[in-house]
Amino acid sequence: MSKKETFTLTKKLDHVAFIMDGNGRWAKLRGLPRYLGHREAMNRLEEIFEACREFNIKAASFYAFSTENWNRPQDEIDHLMDYLEEFFTKKIDYLCSIGARLQISGDINRLRPSTKQTCIEALERTKDNQNIVINVCLNYGGRDDIVRACKAIAQEYADKKVSLDDITENYFADHLYTHGLPDIDLMIRTSGEQRLSNYLLWQNAYSEFVFTPVKWPDFNRKAFIDCLKEFEGRKRRYGGLKNE
Ligand code: FPP
Repeated sequence: MSKKETFTLTKKLDHVAFIMDGNGRWAKLRGLPRYLGHREAMNRLEEIFEACREFNIKAASFYAFSTENWNRPQDEIDHLMDYLEEFFTKKIDYLCSIGARLQISGDINRLRPSTKQTCIEALERTKDNQNIVINVCLNYGGRDDIVRACKAIAQEYADKKVSLDDITENYFADHLYTHGLPDIDLMIRTSGEQRLSNYLLWQNAYSEFVFTPVKWPDFNRKAFIDCLKEFEGRKRRYGGLKNE
């Protein structure tokens, strides 16, 4: 058996966000239906959750289903929802064993009732866990997130619950689905595609982007460490001149 690579992260990394891309291509290369790429993708999650814990990351976001993914064939959508339901039921004990609290970003009301119900139960069962937040972006769109926050704040203003001066960046962030989570430090997209695809637009304002050619079903601890090494080499200036 090959020896587990040791790696020490010296940079602040509170929140990592993943775009788990390449599942369909991974399956096609093997002559399999696309949904089996998503199936294999699910099997990678625990290794990545554990690596996040190992590197003391406080929050990890995963783009599970975008507001645009409804345009996919119904059969693929159904399989994805089946896998999500399975995760939200069978993996809860596991999430609790690593102290993971689940957060869901996105409108779960449009999901089929059984998926919505498993989400609600999973949120409830993990709500007191404190080691790490696993933020699953589900029926999520970055623009939709921002518009919803604007509407909620406009309503508060109309109801005279908030003044214009109170509406700061922090106040706004508290109205996004990701409320309570630290800013994203690192955004990783697998499979070689180099775009953001409406993912956590506000939250990625100052994150470092790492694009890896590895397709998500092949993304493991070693591939994650390769991304972390690239992140380690980045100079983060947040628009200023001084290095962090
Ligand atoms: C992109 O690959 C991936 C998706 C649209 C869905 C990924 C979702 C999961 C694996 C579920 C994750 C669940 C949890 C609980 C975190 P693609 O199909 O667009 O790949 P392609 O570009 O090769 O076609």
